[in-house]
Amino acid sequence: MSTNIEIRFTVNGSPRTVAVPPEMSALNMLREVIGLTGTKYGCGEGECGACTILVDGMSVNSCLLFAVDCDGRKLTTVEGVVNEPAGARVRDAFVQAGAVQCGFCTPGFVVQAAHLIDTHGSKLDPETIKRGIEGNLCRCTGYKKIVEAITAAAQEAR
Ligand code: FES
Ligand code: FES
Repeated sequence: MSTNIEIRFTVNGSPRTVAVPPEMSALNMLREVIGLTGTKYGCGEGECGACTILVDGMSVNSCLLFAVDCDGRKLTTVEGVVNEPAGARVRDAFVQAGAVQCGFCTPGFVVQAAHLIDTHGSKLDPETIKRGIEGNLCRCTGYKKIVEAITAAAQEAR
């Protein structure tokens, strides 16, 4: 059995210290150790984007990141993203556009969309959105309403 390793980081602005097994993913740490279950486990292989979080402002598949590599980093999950202006606009736009069906993919899309808006601002156009969400899969919606929702949220950034 492996020995747990102590790591320190911030998540959604709060400092945390936890002890984790060296093989644990950041996704499992967030869900099982920290109790932030908004970030979803879809494929566990970097294919679906349901586990998307921000690490030092970069969009990352948390299933592919070791928890121990979060040491000293700044993590933001969907719970933190929706407390920021872009994330709140994206959340509301998803509801208004009907871009949520089963909802399993939604947290990953909200994190990625808010990241795109923070990166591109009101210049974010539908083609850039489509490229930007290529790593996020949705089985239900067909993507059209998701792109519409992100476009609307970006336009509100004007
Ligand atoms: S669960 Fe991480 S990409 Fe699918
Ligand atoms: S709403 Fe069901 S997977 Fe996207």
